[in-house]
Amino acid sequence: MTIQWFPGHMAKARREVTEKLKLIDIIFELVDARIPYSSRNPMIDEIIQHKPRLVLLNKADMADKERTKEWIKYFSEKDVKALAINAQAGEGLREIVQASHQILKEKFDRLKAKGVKNPRAIRAMIVGIPNVGKSTLINRLAKRNIARTGNTPGVTKAQQWIKVGKELELLDTPGILWPKFEDQDVGMKLAVTGAIKDTLLNLQDLAVFSLRFLEEAYPQRLKERFQLEEVPDDLVELFDHIGKLRGCIMSGGLIDYDKTAELIVREIRSEKFGPITFDIPEHVSSISEAEQQ
Ligand code: G4P
Repeated sequence: MTIQWFPGHMAKARREVTEKLKLIDIIFELVDARIPYSSRNPMIDEIIQHKPRLVLLNKADMADKERTKEWIKYFSEKDVKALAINAQAGEGLREIVQASHQILKEKFDRLKAKGVKNPRAIRAMIVGIPNVGKSTLINRLAKRNIARTGNTPGVTKAQQWIKVGKELELLDTPGILWPKFEDQDVGMKLAVTGAIKDTLLNLQDLAVFSLRFLEEAYPQRLKERFQLEEVPDDLVELFDHIGKLRGCIMSGGLIDYDKTAELIVREIRSEKFGPITFDIPEHVSSISEAEQQ
């Protein structure tokens, strides 16, 4: 699904989430575990106001496990509970209910103290940028195909709740929010993880960005996969080497750079380099500090 975000769309998306806030106790903010910073909505704090939230690092199966731990710690230092999940395989979902109880304990204890005997189920809504796995998670939690992808124009339907056991009720439509696409680095990370379509970007730029990232964060994997002693500084040399290795050659023996770029990106996306996390908590902390100054 490709969504183009214009100011009008953003305002509408924001309004839709805001309207539903009063119906729920807790927000499940879904992010991609490979890019927990880049896959967040830039205005999320403002949009959800003071509503309790649980951050879900989805697609944890594709992310670097050590980094995922660092991200959970990063959020916990900001007093935000985060969990790693794999919505596709249904891993980590039980913890969602437990963590929600923990986060809302005080609120529900207050209800009990007021004499409410059987506190109702916790009500939640999933929010996140496109492709982060919202529908997959809803379907998993519902254990059947309830979540519909996309909207049917002109059809307004009543709010539906999906029961997840006895203790949780989930709004059947997730809140779709926009990513921080004005930031080029973020755009590259969204593209290399497949959150935004290739057509929006120059594939060679994306391949260069990805190679440079791998060189910095996972140099050994890069060298092994492309049989390199050292990673050459010169990009043409690097592309020539990879192109030749993979047979991306045009008639006349010249390296086909477009094909080479496509192949590099495809290999990263299909986990040929193993699980990778593109956002690093300490880098993000320094961005936030710089923004505050
Ligand atoms: P959305 O509603 O937020 O837009 O996302 P959606 O559920 O449609 O998921 C987007 C893609 O991410 C889907 O793949 C889905 O299968 C995949 N996905 C969701 N959760 C996980 C996860 O925890 N791990 C992994 N590895 N993938 C996940 P797709 O290629 O669009 O479709 P398909 O491969 O399922 O056919």
